[in-house]
Amino acid sequence: MSNESVEDAQPTEDGSLTLRDPETGELYHNRAGAYAEALANFVEPLNLSGLASANDQLAFLDVCFGLGYNTFCLLNELAKLELKADSIKIVAIEKFQKPLPYISRVLSDNRFQLLQKQILSQAPGLAAGQFGHSEFSLQCRQGAVRVNFEICQADLREVVPQMVAYHSGIFDGIFHDPFSPRRAPELWTIDLFECYKQLLCQPNGKVVTYSSASAIRGAFKQCGLMVRRTTAVGGKSGGTLAMLPSANNSEEQGLPLLAEEMAKLSGRAGVPYRDAQFCKTSREILKAREAEQKLLFPY
Ligand SMILES: C[S@@+](CC[C@H](N)C(=O)[O-])C[C@H]1O[C@@H](n2cnc3c(N)ncnc32)[C@H](O)[C@@H]1O
Repeated sequence: MSNESVEDAQPTEDGSLTLRDPETGELYHNRAGAYAEALANFVEPLNLSGLASANDQLAFLDVCFGLGYNTFCLLNELAKLELKADSIKIVAIEKFQKPLPYISRVLSDNRFQLLQKQILSQAPGLAAGQFGHSEFSLQCRQGAVRVNFEICQADLREVVPQMVAYHSGIFDGIFHDPFSPRRAPELWTIDLFECYKQLLCQPNGKVVTYSSASAIRGAFKQCGLMVRRTTAVGGKSGGTLAMLPSANNSEEQGLPLLAEEMAKLSGRAGVPYRDAQFCKTSREILKAREAEQKLLFPY
């Protein structure tokens, strides 16, 4: 099979699309549904109705934008609410060109009908899958809200640490959606999560991801974030919600970790991946983690 046919979009069980990455061999999404995963693991854990009534401005960071399901699903759900904010800022990071041309097919899904209309008529560059800045009005329950949308073509390891200098404390939600920690540990380090913590808006900012790995939850915990579980999609164990300790009603957000999940975080499995200079290879990161595990848990 050629690379092109391997990369072709394929339907997931809920009718939404996914791609297969030829390098890692991984699908971009849960087989049960790209849409279902975006909703359950990324959008719903942000508690949008709380944000809608409390915030004058809304801002979200979508790391590893891919086909854009997480952000499109977010905008779709925000449009159903009465927002106090009159603008929504979206910053998306994606390293590769290849998923973006599929945006028009993603938006042609009936579940995005209204959003598609608004994007096609006002932001044709976005609908056509171009990197860069676009703006459009999103019709929400109370009226039109301005969406300021930037898709940066960049490696997240370069751009996220730089963002701390100029986007500190602004994001209500951060979607973290790289390929799996096992295949790409350099995209799941505690050093990256420290940057996210600084990018989050006080008091209610949240990071969400599909991974439930103890190394990832352990890293969030060591950063001083509160860790909760999100709903399982398609037989998987659910993702992770990491919140600032200042979050309001934190006990009501997400689901508590099970006792055995909690225990793992303080053991060998909870040792994080580290890459303080954002430059190590995945092999170096894995080896250094093994050495740290042996040192901390020799028996
Ligand atoms: C699991 S898919 C993301 C799916 C996506 N959120 C969606 O809704 O379609 C991972 C994405 O990360 C991108 N990616 C891989 N390495 C990256 C890096 N170092 N920096 C930024 N993006 C990267 C891939 O091109 C791919 O689009």
